[in-house]
Amino acid sequence: MSDPEEALTRDDVVQGYRLFLGRTPESDDIIDAHHGHMKTVQAWRDALFNSEEFVERHIKPATVQAMDQVLYGPPPAVDHQVSADVLKAMLERVREQWTSLGEQDPHWSVLSSPDFRKASLTPEKIADLKRSGQREAQLIDDFEARAGVALSRGTCVELGAGVGRITRYLSEKFERVIAVDISPGNLELCAEYMAEEGAHNVECRLVSSFEDFDSLPEFDVLFSVIVLQHNPPPIQKLILRSLFSRVRPGGGVLFQIPTHIPGYTFDAEKYLTEPLREIEMHSLPTAVILEEMLRYRLRLLDVTPDPFIGGLGSFTFFAAKF
Ligand SMILES: C[S@@+](CC[C@H](N)C(=O)[O-])C[C@H]1O[C@@H](n2cnc3c(N)ncnc32)[C@H](O)[C@@H]1O
Repeated sequence: MSDPEEALTRDDVVQGYRLFLGRTPESDDIIDAHHGHMKTVQAWRDALFNSEEFVERHIKPATVQAMDQVLYGPPPAVDHQVSADVLKAMLERVREQWTSLGEQDPHWSVLSSPDFRKASLTPEKIADLKRSGQREAQLIDDFEARAGVALSRGTCVELGAGVGRITRYLSEKFERVIAVDISPGNLELCAEYMAEEGAHNVECRLVSSFEDFDSLPEFDVLFSVIVLQHNPPPIQKLILRSLFSRVRPGGGVLFQIPTHIPGYTFDAEKYLTEPLREIEMHSLPTAVILEEMLRYRLRLLDVTPDPFIGGLGSFTFFAAKF
């Protein structure tokens, strides 16, 4: 097929059928209809990729294959129990990485679309990014409605608030929000944004060590999306443990975390010898999360697959403290 911006030819329509659907068009009338309706090669390609036939033929089998791999595969080898020194070294890596991302490319570090790279940012794109957080903040209402519960709306701790994309909307739903982040640059932007919006019930709090997590006050609701995934499993577990222990009865937790990334394994010793990837992606087995929930009297109300890692294996957990 030719350049995507190029005008669509009748031959492109036929080739599209052949390449993407593996067949010839039903009739000349169908070819004419597509040719008349679609102006560019790109529009034709989009139409094909979104067609039921393409989804049935290619997308569904690929999805089922990945699910098979998880369901019938061996239990993933994931180290989540390491010594205090190794934990410290791992958290230090996370801190260094997010300090640097927050200095170099804060908006892209929050939503990694090329649109939010520093070089291509515009005030309109920043406004879009900020508006996008409304959808995630709404999850608290949606999960409550689905589970038929209402959690206390006193203090919310948002783990990994970033530049405040979601924080601003959480501040309308809770009496108080503690916006916690490990990246000084991102948190500074978050504080500036909260001041601009007059969100005076938000306290921005930098965390650099496990002691910082352990010195957080008790609170009602933990909220976190697109954060834990960037921490190695032993850190994910310890942060969840520290935060779960601080949730007051009547409150609860809503957090996203990968648990079933196809093919994911984690070797703690090897990890510390490897160079950091620009953005890390980690997964913690469900059993470990449920064990921590049980320990801190969190009753699981819902666990839903979500799109936050752009592929299979991430879930959003919702639980209430009793
Ligand atoms: C991809 S951004 C998402 C920010 C925000 N949750 C959102 O959706 O807009 C991840 C944020 O989590 C922060 N972060 C990563 N690991 C963290 C940790 N262990 N403790 C606190 N913040 C962390 C990063 O500094 C970054 O600001």
